[in-house]
Amino acid sequence: MTGDKKVLFSGMQATGSLTLGNYLGALKNWVSLSDEYECFYSVVDLHSITVRQDPAELRKRARNLLTLYIAAGLDPEKNCIYYQSHVSGHAELAWILNCFTYMGELNRMTQFKDKAAKHADNINAGLYTYPVLMAADILLYQADVVPVGKDQLQHLEITRDIAQRFNHLYGDVFTIPEPFVGRVGAKIMSLQDPSKKMSKSDENPNGSVYLTDDADTVMRKFKRAVTDSCANIAYNEEQPGIRNLIDIYCACTGKTPQQTVKEFDGKGYGEFKLAVGESVVDVLRPLQTKFAQLQKDKAYIDSVIKNNGEKAERFAAKTLRKVQKKVGFPERIR
Ligand code: TYM
Repeated sequence: MTGDKKVLFSGMQATGSLTLGNYLGALKNWVSLSDEYECFYSVVDLHSITVRQDPAELRKRARNLLTLYIAAGLDPEKNCIYYQSHVSGHAELAWILNCFTYMGELNRMTQFKDKAAKHADNINAGLYTYPVLMAADILLYQADVVPVGKDQLQHLEITRDIAQRFNHLYGDVFTIPEPFVGRVGAKIMSLQDPSKKMSKSDENPNGSVYLTDDADTVMRKFKRAVTDSCANIAYNEEQPGIRNLIDIYCACTGKTPQQTVKEFDGKGYGEFKLAVGESVVDVLRPLQTKFAQLQKDKAYIDSVIKNNGEKAERFAAKTLRKVQKKVGFPERIR
């Protein structure tokens, strides 16, 4: 339905400030895959309201995120960059898929358990059925591939299960998507606690590098990064802090862990941390410059939102009509 190319879908939430983890684990791969596939990159604002948001703040963050996709190198002429809330098919398909998803499956979702613990005063049904909305996002575009960080793999699994169940009942309706997880950077950990993933919602701002951090802040955070007392730059499970820094360095420079270990053989942690910080600054600088330029061009960003929103809607409508017919909803009379 989209021509010769296979279809790619991915999305990010506009909640909190984007971290280096989001960039290295997802956005960077999106850019590298964007020529090969017909791509849909969504700002998934429907997902964001599963936790309470300030409306004005959410709108601002959503626009900034969409702008950041472009600043990171995604060409909106070739990639469909749009707001999830502008395509009603996401919510409509999610309702249908809710009826094909078991509570037992949702009960197993670790992200739900984590978020429910964090937001104990607001364990709403949307938070619970979040993975079904995510399945709807992906299946609506008949995506072949979904680039994500490791933390989203369980959601990809349930998406595949729901799609297979639906296909089993109604014939070949959905493409079964494959996750794409990058070789490096798939799980960037907190700089303050390398047993936890780097997260937008971390209360300790020193644990996360934000894409908006200036060079001094980035360097300060890396200088303070938690390491160990081994005094040896090696890539192993026993040294998770150093391992995380090596992962970040490799993702930013394109080097391998082996090359990195060799490069810093006999050097101190202080020197290594500075090098990692500088590699991050080098990656963030052009991104921030481009972002600042684009932010000023209101008319251009508005035109991307309008045109790509309409394009996404056209694609989504095809799948939705097919699904509605399969489950037995009456045909529209035109
Ligand atoms: P979100 O917004 O939490 O994260 C966006 C992307 O960033 C990746 N990521 C990381 N990768 C490496 N290290 C980290 N520390 C790190 N933190 C985040 C995530 O794996 C993700 O790829 N539910 C999704 C958004 C979503 C979606 C979708 C994704 C909604 N519908 C359909 C793909 C397809 C989420 O909350 O991602």
